[in-house]
Parts: sequence; structure tokens; C-alpha cells
Amino acid sequence: KKSQAWSALFSEPMSELVKRYTASVDFDKRLWEADIAGSLAHAEMLSAQGVIGASDLADIQRGMAQIRAEIEAGSFEWKLDLEDVHLNIEARLTQLVGDAGKRLHTGRSRNDQVATDVRLWLRGEIDQLLPLLAGMQRALVNVAAKNTETILPGFTHMQVAQPVSFAHHMLAYVEMFARDAERLADVRKRVNRLPLGAAALAGTSYPLDRERVAKTLGFDGVCQNSLDAVSDRDFAIEFGAFASITMMHVSRLAEEIVLWMSQNFAFIDLADRYCTGSSIMPQKRNPDVAELARGKTGRVYGHLMGLLTLMKGQPLTYNKDNQEDKEPLFDTVDTVRDTLRIMAEMVEGIVVKPEAMERAALRGYATATDLADYLAKRGVPFRDAHEVVAHAVKTCLQRGIDLAELPLDELKALNPKVGDDVQQVLTLRGSLDARNVLGGTAPVQVRAQVERHLKRLGG
Ligand code: ARG
Repeated sequence: KKSQAWSALFSEPMSELVKRYTASVDFDKRLWEADIAGSLAHAEMLSAQGVIGASDLADIQRGMAQIRAEIEAGSFEWKLDLEDVHLNIEARLTQLVGDAGKRLHTGRSRNDQVATDVRLWLRGEIDQLLPLLAGMQRALVNVAAKNTETILPGFTHMQVAQPVSFAHHMLAYVEMFARDAERLADVRKRVNRLPLGAAALAGTSYPLDRERVAKTLGFDGVCQNSLDAVSDRDFAIEFGAFASITMMHVSRLAEEIVLWMSQNFAFIDLADRYCTGSSIMPQKRNPDVAELARGKTGRVYGHLMGLLTLMKGQPLTYNKDNQEDKEPLFDTVDTVRDTLRIMAEMVEGIVVKPEAMERAALRGYATATDLADYLAKRGVPFRDAHEVVAHAVKTCLQRGIDLAELPLDELKALNPKVGDDVQQVLTLRGSLDARNVLGGTAPVQVRAQVERHLKRLGG
């Protein structure tokens, strides 16, 4: 029994270990829908070009319809002996329709076939990820919309720096995910090129109409060099880079959620459905989802490194190494998709605790810069103002009070330029309102940004 496409040349069957080592069907069967779509477009073009007959095309279409039904019903029998998704589907087609099935592979190689399948599949996944990135942004904007006046201590070096609007902080992440979406849309352009027609590596002697196949499959154009078409996987690496950057952003947000939920901050709470308990400590409610999102970032980075390393030593053109592109790529897609979905839901349900945030901002002399600016605007050189305020903070620290709690006469004693209006400037709200610059944290600016994002995201 001939179980492999090339077996006439071989005098003994493949060893069991080699068979298992080289087979990819267990994971690449996930490409089945792309594989069928690619084959149908190829067959249709072959028939239009007179390479196969109209009845062959009809047989192939009929056979593929049945295979589709079998796979969807779960009754398709995937065989390890047939190595990969491509050979499994082709063998079943031949079983179903005979010679027409054997004509399908005319002018084609698995090398251009697999490159086409992966691109088609990835394009479909990208088209599902783009709305998820928009959903993540929408969740953040919705939290922002309710919190333009909520005051959070902004940190640098994890030390209280200046008060910021909590909405402003949420919108910082919106900017990051908006850039990620831009990046993904850009990756899509380079994913969406057709390798089919490159055949094994050099092109083919059949009069193929590659542009026609590209159009049928919705590709923006064809790969212009057959050697490049079958051998490069830079589109997958680029996707991995997009995914890594996106997960890096997710991970920073996750890290902040974990911190904010800690009793030492208590800035937010999460809905119970996103928390888990402890098997030993009855009091625990842990932010496991955020922690896992942070942790899963590592595996996405790992896949990017894996793909880069996979490609770096490969001489042109196709090498079996490329079969190793699939598991990291699949897992990257799954991880990013699931993470964006669950994080968007969780973010939307964040319970903000404004009093705790404000208390923390007041504890950290977050308005010290405002006092220095106040003096500078009244003619005190900024470096001198800085020094004066440092002294004032030291005094406050010794007495365990905030700057705004210093009696007016003591504030005035700091410098002759200090007037009766100084305490107003030292409030958290006064500090926020003062930063009324484009991109700044003044609630009036932040509200305008919320509006801009709502409009951009459509709702
Ligand atoms: N399963 C293979 C892959 O994933 C398909 C292409 C195999 N081509 C070949 N000449 N062995 O890359």
C-alpha cells in the first residue's frame, strides 16, 4: 500500500520514530479551512487556464464540499501516516473523486501551499484580533469616562510624583493599544500576499494565473519572487513582534492592577468573578487573571525568539525547519486573543476607590512642584524655588503633615513672594487643573481626550 506521495523511490517504509518526528498533522490540521480555500482557488484557476478539465474542477469542488462537512462534523479521519494537513486532505479527495483529486497538485508544491495556508489563516486571525484591540481600548475609555475627576498619585521611580487624573492614566494605555492596532493593521499588509504559483521554489512551467488566485483568495497581490515566497516567514515574525509589544503593554497594566489591588495601595477592587481564593488562607482574593496575563507575556516573547532563531540559519529556500513555525504562531495568536478578551472584561469591571487614591497622593507631597511653579511664576528663579520647597517639605515631614496643611503665615514666611492664594494651588485639584496643556492631566483636557477616543472607536 502506497502511503506516501513519494514512496515509489523508497525501498523501505519510514521508521515509526521518524514518522512521528516529522508529522505535523496533530497541530497543522488547524489550517484545514485555509487549505481547502487555497486548493479550490488553485483548481478553479487551473480549469480556467485549461490545465485541468471543467469536470475535474467539478469533482474537486464536490469532494472538497464533502471533506469540509466531514471535518466540521468531526468524522474526518486524520492520519499520522499522511504527515500533514495538506496530504491528509489531498488523499481523502482522491479517495472521494479519483483522478481529479490527483490532478489538483498540478503546478503546485506543498512549499507554496503551506506558505499560502499560513498566511490565509493568520489574516483571518488578525481580522478577529483587531476588534479585540478596539474592545480593550473601549473598556479603558469607559473607565476613564467615569473618572476624569478621580485623583491618583502619579508615580516616577514608584515614588509619589504628581497628582494625575485616574482617567488620564487609563488613557495612557488606550494610546498604547491604539498603536498596537496600527501595527497589526500594518503587519496585515505584508501577510496578505500570495505565495501560490511559486511551486517548490522556482515557479512552474504551467500557465498559471497567479493574479487570479490572489483575487479569489482576497490577497492584495502576489509574492514577486518564488524563492522568497516559499522560504521566508518574516510575516510570522512580524506578527510575533506585534504580539510581544501588545503583551508588554498588557503586562504593565496587569502589574499595576496587581499593585493597586494590594492592601498596601487598595486603589481598586476587582469583581469576584475575576479573582481566585487560596486553599489555605481563607481571607485571600487574588488577582490571578492579571498575574497570568503578566506571566503569559513571557511565552509570547519566547515564541518571537523561537521564530527568529528558526529562520536565522536557513539557506534559501524551503527547509523542513519551517514546519516549526506553526506551534509558536498558533500559541501566540491564542494567547493574545484570550488575554485581550479577558483583560478587557476585567478592566471594565474595575471598582475605583477614589478616597484611597487621594489619601496616597496627599501623603506623598504630590503638589510640591506646584508650590515651586507658584514661586517661579512670581519671579523666583526656578532652582531657588525648588530649594525653598524642599525645605518646606522637610518641615512638613518632621511634623507629619501635608504641604497644604502648613499654616498660611508659615507658607508666607518661606518667601516674600508667597501670597494669600497659595493654599489653593497646593490642593490636588488645583494641581490637576493647572496642567491644562494639550496632553496634560487637567480634567478639561482629559474629558476632551475621552470624547476623541469615543468618537474614534465609534461609541
Ligand atoms: N508540513 C510542512 C510545513 O509545515 C509542509 C511543507 C512540506 N514540504 C516539504 N517539501 N516537506 O512546512
